[in-house]
Amino acid sequence: MKLRSLGASDLLVSPIGLGCWQFSKGRGLAGRYWPVLSDETIKEIVKVSIEGGVNWFDTAELYGNGASEKALSTALISLEKTTGNVVIATKWSPMFRTAASILRTIDDRIRSLQNLRIDLYQVHQPLGFSTVEKEMDAMARLVDAGKIRYVGVSNFNADRMRRAHAQLRRHGLALVSNQMSYSLLKRGIEKNGVVETAKELGISIIAYSPLAQGILTGKFHKQNDQAAQPVGIRKYLPGFRRGGLERSRPLIARLGQVAEAHGSTPAQVALQWLNSFQGELVVAIPGASSAAQAMQNAKSMEIVLTQDEMHSLDEVSRGCQHG
Ligand SMILES: NC(=O)c1ccc[n+]([C@@H]2O[C@H](COP(=O)([O-])OP(=O)(O)OC[C@H]3O[C@@H](n4cnc5c(N)ncnc54)[C@H](OP(=O)(O)O)[C@@H]3O)[C@@H](O)[C@H]2O)c1
Repeated sequence: MKLRSLGASDLLVSPIGLGCWQFSKGRGLAGRYWPVLSDETIKEIVKVSIEGGVNWFDTAELYGNGASEKALSTALISLEKTTGNVVIATKWSPMFRTAASILRTIDDRIRSLQNLRIDLYQVHQPLGFSTVEKEMDAMARLVDAGKIRYVGVSNFNADRMRRAHAQLRRHGLALVSNQMSYSLLKRGIEKNGVVETAKELGISIIAYSPLAQGILTGKFHKQNDQAAQPVGIRKYLPGFRRGGLERSRPLIARLGQVAEAHGSTPAQVALQWLNSFQGELVVAIPGASSAAQAMQNAKSMEIVLTQDEMHSLDEVSRGCQHG
């Protein structure tokens, strides 16, 4: 499996990384979204991911106020993975904060990650009290101080992405990635200029919620008692309700047909489509609630889809968008 460069950096990552929001341990507002996973399960998820070829991990301060960073680093250390063996991405949370907090809180991030190196430090979303330029100035100081290696953003539109990149250029750096919601059910970034700008500036797209939080596995579409039921907040989201599931059903059916031809699963086909459709621009970070899911997601990297399969999934998905 070929590794990909993240933007214009020397970070080489597998097309599939592991999303670690699920490791939040039920802490904080964001942390309550997913069921609590035990340390043992988290270690197994990390272990099988690495065995399946995954070499990088995405976490955030917001995921349990550091609980996910702590759980991830604990698992990695127990598996004797240290800086240089794996790539770690985490995020600063700008909510109700100014850019000064980037400098003030970096040592908390390093502590939560138990001194494993932060290879990519991302601004989690655009709603902070400072300008993009001030945030990028602070990030550049962290690179300078050797506290992080590269800078990324998340949920930034094309204009903000461009501004972040331009400001980093003033420091002799480059914006490496923009982490966005992107899946066969949510393709807005193909139309709003984000994909186009990323291609132009050489910035990678990190696709989050690549399985539409489980919808693309098809498990919620099964008939009656065979169907999985979404737990927590997901059960209130339109995509998981009856109407939403009916809307995505044609896509799930097509994913099922393609999966059968490859002896794989709809989830694996959905991930492989995402990692191929834009060439090497996109890498995806599915989360997992069990080792079996993580293993399945990692193994999606082994599938090669034909041009016909790519096209037909493209076509069918256009009629099933969640917006
Ligand atoms: N930057 C941001 O604003 C942002 C926002 C959201 C997420 N993220 C990042 O992106 C990562 C992934 O996104 P996400 O967690 O929202 O959505 P996702 O990866 O699309 O879905 C993850 C969930 O789908 C189910 N699942 C995963 N693989 C499966 C499989 N093979 N078979 C059956 N079910 C499977 C699991 O839930 P159940 O088993 O409970 O069904 C799992 O928790 C997060 O962990 C986080 O690192 C970033």
